Amino acid sequence: MARRKIVAGNWKMNKTPSEAVALAEELKPLVASDDVDVVFCVPAIDIIPVAEAVKGTNIAVGAENMYFEEKGAYTGEISPAMLVDAGVKYVVLGHSERREYFAETNETVNKKVLKAFEHGITPIMCCGESLEQREQGVTMDFIRQQVKVGLQNVTAEQAKTMVIAYEPIWAIGTGKTATTEQAQEVCAGIRACIAEVYDDATAEAIRIQYGGSVNAATAPELFAQADIDGGLVGGAALKPDFGKIVNYK
Ligand code: 13P
Repeated sequence: MARRKIVAGNWKMNKTPSEAVALAEELKPLVASDDVDVVFCVPAIDIIPVAEAVKGTNIAVGAENMYFEEKGAYTGEISPAMLVDAGVKYVVLGHSERREYFAETNETVNKKVLKAFEHGITPIMCCGESLEQREQGVTMDFIRQQVKVGLQNVTAEQAKTMVIAYEPIWAIGTGKTATTEQAQEVCAGIRACIAEVYDDATAEAIRIQYGGSVNAATAPELFAQADIDGGLVGGAALKPDFGKIVNYK
């Protein structure tokens, strides 16, 4: 069965609540699609107003992070139940910016992935190599480790429903998109890794996105690749261009 494409915007630390509502309103008509799952992953404080603004549309709301405990004395953190109650369906976990600036590890990402599943939130688990790792020829070893540890104790049934985002760090926010061949090669490698850890059926079902300077010009070729099931989009998700990326065909 063909996998349904999923295009998610990662708004990162952009847009105040009122700006976020204005952007959601602007993008709403542009991202209408019967073929593609559309997600706006927005800052925590924007989740409730954006969820309200997109009610009744094809847009799902996602969070950019989440804590792995149920509740309690974790000042500043946001629990999975809070996200669910606010209307969140997806959560970005293990983004390279969180790994770099907020000490996320494969282990904490794994705890969060498991917790998201417990609460019925679909994880968008990120992985990706640095430029140094690519130049050293260890890209796939590094990513396989990220994926394998991130998925520890995740069942095949759960894995089938989740999303993995391949985001080469050197392509994020740099305007330097990976070539279609580079992106397809790693996404195919991730799928092969899933087949090893689980089985072919799980590998066939799981959706793998490419992220890193995706724009309206590069999306059509990237999304046409056999193992690329859509994109995780940063900068271009804050512009009307996002509508063109969703409707890339
Ligand atoms: P850019 O599209 O701005 O390169 O960001 C990609 C990204 O990090 C999405 O999560």
